[in-house]
Amino acid sequence: MSIKAVVFDAYGTLYDIQSVAEVTEDAFPGYGEIITQVWRIKQLEYTWLRSLMRRYQDFAAVTRDSLAYTLRMLGLAYENDAFERVIEKYLHLDLYPDATAALAALRPRKLAILSNGSPDMLNALVRNSGLDALLDATISVDAKKTFKPSPEAYELVGEVLGTAPNEVLFVSSNPWDAAGAKSFGLNVAWIERVTPETMALACVENELVAPLTMFKAIRTQMDELGFAPDHCIHALSELPGIV
Ligand code: 2OP
Repeated sequence: MSIKAVVFDAYGTLYDIQSVAEVTEDAFPGYGEIITQVWRIKQLEYTWLRSLMRRYQDFAAVTRDSLAYTLRMLGLAYENDAFERVIEKYLHLDLYPDATAALAALRPRKLAILSNGSPDMLNALVRNSGLDALLDATISVDAKKTFKPSPEAYELVGEVLGTAPNEVLFVSSNPWDAAGAKSFGLNVAWIERVTPETMALACVENELVAPLTMFKAIRTQMDELGFAPDHCIHALSELPGIV
């Protein structure tokens, strides 16, 4: 295999999305961990929901909406300032410690990011972290108005870099992204950052939020997709009263 370009997912692969935890904890003491996790789960979920609904909004909007969901779901009141401080961290996420050296070592191949991020947020993040000096291209799915793992999103790699799929190694720690890229036809390296062994250990050490609490957090409140139901009821028995 002759690899001419190595293309990276951004959030979770080059940039540590868990690094928002310090800011979420600072803005909402005691809630940093649950905000950080539910926010990311909902952020991705909204990309897929919006793609299926054909109601694309860019990743900056989806990132705001998923944070709004998370804070509302937890019953947390907040000022705009606190919200903006948390959102701002997305432009200053920590790089994984080995990211810069790994990119430099992959030269002279073409190096790029292909991310769900919107152009503005990606360009700011890449500039703020200094990766602009190493990357040939920062590719946003926004050009296709859909999100990974849609095949149209992965098509952008060839369109921007002029490469055939078998000349590209796509790198992601997100399993759904690795599967999507492979399904499209790219060579794929998946970074397994959490193994079943470390998960088993976390269970024993009680690091997990109670599973039912997690379910309630992500599946029981109305979503921030801009389409509210006409009625909100609490039991089937209320139905006769609204027709
Ligand atoms: C990306 O950077 C969302 O992590 C995903 O495209």
